[in-house]
Amino acid sequence: MTEKYRDFLSWVIYQIYPRSFQDTNGDGIGDLNGVRARLDYLKDLGVNAIWLCPCYKSPNDDNGYDVADYRDIMDEFGNMDDMKALISESHARGIHVIMDLVPNHTSSAHKWFRASKQSRDNPYSDYYYWFDEPPTDWNASFGGKAWEYCPERKQYYLHSYCVSQPDLNWDNPKVRDEMKAVGDFWASLGVDGFRIDVIDQISKDIPNGRNCFGPHLHEYIHELFGREEAAHLFTVGECWASTGEEYKKHCDASRNELSTLFQFDHLECGRSEKFVQTAPSLAAVRDVLVKWQTFNQQNDLLQMLFTDNHDNAPFLSRVGNDKELRYESATCIAAMFYTLKGVALLYQGQEFGTVSPRYDDISDFRDVEAINAYNGFLPLGKEEALKRINFGSRDNSRRPIAWDGSEYGGFSTVAPWTPVHSEKDRVNLDADIHGEKSIHAFYKRLLALRRATPELLYGDFTVLSKPTDPFFRFTRSYEGKTVEVLCNFETASDPGVSFAEQDLLRSNYKDRKDASAPFRPYEIAIYRVK
Ligand code: GLC
Ligand code: CA
Repeated sequence: MTEKYRDFLSWVIYQIYPRSFQDTNGDGIGDLNGVRARLDYLKDLGVNAIWLCPCYKSPNDDNGYDVADYRDIMDEFGNMDDMKALISESHARGIHVIMDLVPNHTSSAHKWFRASKQSRDNPYSDYYYWFDEPPTDWNASFGGKAWEYCPERKQYYLHSYCVSQPDLNWDNPKVRDEMKAVGDFWASLGVDGFRIDVIDQISKDIPNGRNCFGPHLHEYIHELFGREEAAHLFTVGECWASTGEEYKKHCDASRNELSTLFQFDHLECGRSEKFVQTAPSLAAVRDVLVKWQTFNQQNDLLQMLFTDNHDNAPFLSRVGNDKELRYESATCIAAMFYTLKGVALLYQGQEFGTVSPRYDDISDFRDVEAINAYNGFLPLGKEEALKRINFGSRDNSRRPIAWDGSEYGGFSTVAPWTPVHSEKDRVNLDADIHGEKSIHAFYKRLLALRRATPELLYGDFTVLSKPTDPFFRFTRSYEGKTVEVLCNFETASDPGVSFAEQDLLRSNYKDRKDASAPFRPYEIAIYRVK
């Protein structure tokens, strides 16, 4: 691994959806001071970086991904002083801060758009895509058509997401300069990196009808992050469906574009499309992981190790057993990912086994994507529509964190902006920590092991299991020493490993000693090969 990226292998990033994390002023909305209040908790867990979903001024049509001012804080979250305090208190604990940069679109309330839509000849007129007639038949991601008529300007503008999220025209050099200045503004406040929203869409190929991976994509990314000022930053791009070749172009250190890219293939396991569930299969997850670990090792690229985010229902509920074997499957999934080579990333609540909630009425959902999708599913009947939304909606991962089992889950003192997690009495941090088997305690020990074991951070990956095996077995070797990992899937199996000669470092079943014995459902073992 190139020197430049090697350091990132020891980062453990915790993704925070501030709106649902911790409310401190009793308005039912999470805030920056809530994040500050939990820094010691995160440090204790073993986290050394936080990624904050957008905190900028926003009308919140897409919960902050519709930015009205890149240099100011959303009213509900606090103010710039709170942000500065959060940055310095994080740094004081050795925690890096990663901001969510949203370069593809702004809110229609942004001053650039408000000016742009006025006329065809103002300083901002070319900041967005304007056409007399829609040049393509693109649909918007959250439903409806992607071109919207604007009566003021008597032209159509492009919005790949909500009507109120107009796409910026990156072919205009002024737009690129603006976004560089935004990045520099946050870097000068001490921010250590960026997660970049839908990076593949900043260059489009309108004549050929492609709304992503346009001809100037890599040139623009390089222009943004290939500069001296940005060289120290950790940058991870959101990019769905990138091929190996595209991945290489984004992340090859010598190209000075991004540190890494999210690779989402494994998130498709257990669903045929976003809202339709299929049979869960950890074997399918394993095969995806083997493919990308091998590819990234061959090409010396950095990989993000993650299972959850704010756009997807909890992975545990989709590919594990979130009922009787919740502890076993949550810890098995954790071991499968966080013993691999890459940058570890956890999503809030994952560390104590948060599951997908369930609601009986669409009025309990908040997400624009879910509500539009529900209306589209209604012809299939209300029951089926609700079933799909309960399975796949982004609200699944955006419910207030259940820190305890009290009325509002310890998140707030009042009813929160979105209904409390329907499973909060069964699944909350307090119950987990005081339970017989604690997922949180397992995460903490696993992250500590990772931190203390150079093989797990830097070691070469070699897969030992075959695609037909009902388990995942691999080694990580570094400077002549080897750690082996064995994660059994949903049924008992006998991988035929004898521990007699080996040193067991971690397991998730209490009585696993060192003898060879069949592995129970979701049982894992991490051991040093002598
Ligand atoms: C990304 C974000 C998602 C947002 C969309 C539009 O996919 O992760 O939450 O709605 O971009 O910005
Ligand atoms: Ca609040």
